[in-house]
Amino acid sequence: MADLRSNFIGIKSPNPFWLASAPPTDKEYNVRRAYEAGWGGVVWKTLGSEGPPVVNVNGPRYGVIHGADRRVLGINNIELITDRPLEVNLREIKSVKRDYPDRALIISLMVPCDEESWKAILHRIEDTGADGVELNFGCPHGMAERGMGSAVGQVPEYIEMVTRWVKKHSRMPCIVKLTPNITDVRKPAEAAKRGGADAVSLINTINSITSVDLDLFAPQPTIDGKGSHGGYCGPAVKPIALNMVAEIARSAETRGIPISGIGGVTTWRDAAEFMALGAGNVQVCTAAMTYGFKIVQEMISGLADYLDSHQMQLDDLIGRAVPNVTDWQHLNLNYITKAVIDQDLCISCGRCYAACEDTSHQAIAMNPGRVFEVIEEECVACNLCLDVCPVENCITMRELEIGEIDKRTGEPRREYANWTSHPNNPMAAQAAE
Ligand SMILES: Cc1cc2nc3c(=O)[nH]c(=O)nc-3n(C[C@H](O)[C@H](O)[C@H](O)COP(=O)(O)O)c2cc1C
Repeated sequence: MADLRSNFIGIKSPNPFWLASAPPTDKEYNVRRAYEAGWGGVVWKTLGSEGPPVVNVNGPRYGVIHGADRRVLGINNIELITDRPLEVNLREIKSVKRDYPDRALIISLMVPCDEESWKAILHRIEDTGADGVELNFGCPHGMAERGMGSAVGQVPEYIEMVTRWVKKHSRMPCIVKLTPNITDVRKPAEAAKRGGADAVSLINTINSITSVDLDLFAPQPTIDGKGSHGGYCGPAVKPIALNMVAEIARSAETRGIPISGIGGVTTWRDAAEFMALGAGNVQVCTAAMTYGFKIVQEMISGLADYLDSHQMQLDDLIGRAVPNVTDWQHLNLNYITKAVIDQDLCISCGRCYAACEDTSHQAIAMNPGRVFEVIEEECVACNLCLDVCPVENCITMRELEIGEIDKRTGEPRREYANWTSHPNNPMAAQAAE
């Protein structure tokens, strides 16, 4: 079986699956059970400095978006950082780390934005035996209004400044956790790098209102008739997280900075996708909250099988897809495909027809007896018919051979041409003159 041992910025773990800082990692009881289930590491639920106690709401903390089968697609939460005393958390961290020396244990931190507060907490955590710290610059609710969390993560200068303080007052590896609630995620990543961060992790949760109670006229979760925005996570945010990870992995300014990928990881496949886009490991929250700690076993066996079947080591996977992430103008505009409907699999539901007819292209004919056929002269290869078809593999895309006539244009398929060199691009035409 493939060797899944991971070394992320010098922090070793038996596999690259860590639990993200959140309720599943907020106490010794949980973390011990997580390790027993097989998790390679955990990021302890965010600790704050001593001071006024953190008080959570006593009403619902979560708003959930379900799929048609009631599967959890996304969770919105209005929870704060740990509301347990710092002393208790530190004692528990020490005890767990002593008993599980081979597992990664990272402490997530969020304290007010002044050097003394950071120095004080770093000194408090030093003798816990923890492997590193993660700076929570991401939580979008509750703490942000107090000048912490995403209020820091949205200002690159603050990120750089706090990261410098952390590196100055601690020898621990430092991961900066980024907020997605920002226009260009490369900017905070660059700031973290300038500040001396050993790695970045992303994404924290996305600002959101999941739904509105139409009797109370208030956002859900509703606390005594009112609601506030919360942080969204789970499978629904994975595409956003993947893009942000890829942006950091391929940007010249941030290329090479280790990345811990977070956001909607539920299966080994999700994890492999994050890694292919440059993440050195992954962190998981919603999936563990939804299905329990044992889901890590599927992740471990699935990733090992995948690596074995592709004769790859874990390191071969990390970043393997990054060179294939490009900007639109570099895509091959002479790559031509056409939809093909397998009549043996078609159940004549007509969804492909409705989608194509009412979207734009009118490239599917409904023949007598509800036989649906692609009109190649009209098909622009958008893939929508395949996407809406309820039968797997009933509609596929066929790639035209070089030289084969594209019935839509009447032209043969030519060799590679991207927009930069395309004859329809006025800039390219000018350059050629
Ligand atoms: C209820 C809840 C509490 C969370 N608390 C924290 C926290 O204290 N610190 C932190 O950095 N992230 C926190 N997060 C964010 C997660 O660590 C993670 O970044 C996010 O949920 C995306 O991962 P996922 O899609 O696997 O859930 C929390 C998430 C949830 C759902």
